[in-house]
Amino acid sequence: MRRFSALGFDSAGAAAAALPFGVNFSPRLTQARQDEGNRGVHMMQETDKTSPPAREVNQGVAPVTYGQGDRPPRGDYARARTDYTCEQQHDRYSLADHDTYRRLYVRQLQQLPGLACDEFISAVHLLGEPQQIPRFEELSDKLHKATGWQVVGVPGLIPEEAFFGLLAQRKFPVTDWIREPREFDYVVEPDIFHDLFGHVPLLFNPTFADYMQAYGVGGLKASKLDACELLARLYWYTVEFGLIQTPQGLRAYGAGLLSSAGELRHSVSAVGPRRVAFELDRLMRSRYRIDTFQATYFVIHNFQQLFDATEPDFTPVYLRVRETMKLSGEIEAGTVLAGEQEFLI
Ligand code: PHE
Ligand code: FE
Repeated sequence: MRRFSALGFDSAGAAAAALPFGVNFSPRLTQARQDEGNRGVHMMQETDKTSPPAREVNQGVAPVTYGQGDRPPRGDYARARTDYTCEQQHDRYSLADHDTYRRLYVRQLQQLPGLACDEFISAVHLLGEPQQIPRFEELSDKLHKATGWQVVGVPGLIPEEAFFGLLAQRKFPVTDWIREPREFDYVVEPDIFHDLFGHVPLLFNPTFADYMQAYGVGGLKASKLDACELLARLYWYTVEFGLIQTPQGLRAYGAGLLSSAGELRHSVSAVGPRRVAFELDRLMRSRYRIDTFQATYFVIHNFQQLFDATEPDFTPVYLRVRETMKLSGEIEAGTVLAGEQEFLI
């Protein structure tokens, strides 16, 4: 996903954005993170509050910039419509681009057994043959028939409200460019591989698909309640880094894990990270890591549980969580609370 940058609240000093969504792809990443491929984190970016009034398609929008401001945004925002979507321009991918996609796909596919959840494994082939970068239109046709979702191209990170608005319409924004060969193992911001391979297969699952739309609707509301940073934690710890308990053991369903060369296995089977049961208030109090593998993962039992737990109006939840944080503080990543059960591997 994109578009969220953990910046702002969890990032160690990323000057970033005070905004909850926007990827925090800090250039100063630790080695531990160097092999994780692109985990798409999304957080808020500098939102373009003064963006131009509605204009014609394809006259471009102001680029979304990264928190630290020492890198130009990578995508071509001049091609974007006012909702930040853009044409994929499939014929502009080079042979090297298609080859990068195929190599990433093959590497990741072979890691899935025993680490990815069944819902993901059974849907990943719906992305199509990996020889070519998928065409968004073709993929959207299939996806729309299955769950009413579509994938739409975007030049890169987009402001959170635009992001939420697309999700609310069952449109998943996918970055249209792919990393360079030298970035094979690590790219600082989400590219097409993270967005497609990580996120799209589960959009074929009806329950998860509904959860993602509800998240978008909830995001638009959270923007008005100034609660995006609490809601961003939910995205981070479920959509990006969520684990699910199955009869066969823990499995990953988060896109940041599923598209990562290193963190997928780490999240499911490494000794070290703490794995606790998904609990909404607890999760919203929990800080997260943006510069290394997660120190805490939240575990659900199934997607229906996730949907049901997040269905109630969050207005009182935000109040309650803020109150608790005033009294007891935030919970640091890697901490297990007294009385809290850990999932052992
Ligand atoms: N129920 C949430 C609210 O009222 C919306 C939401 C649903 C948010 C699912 C996240 C995920 O804000
Ligand atoms: Fe992502």
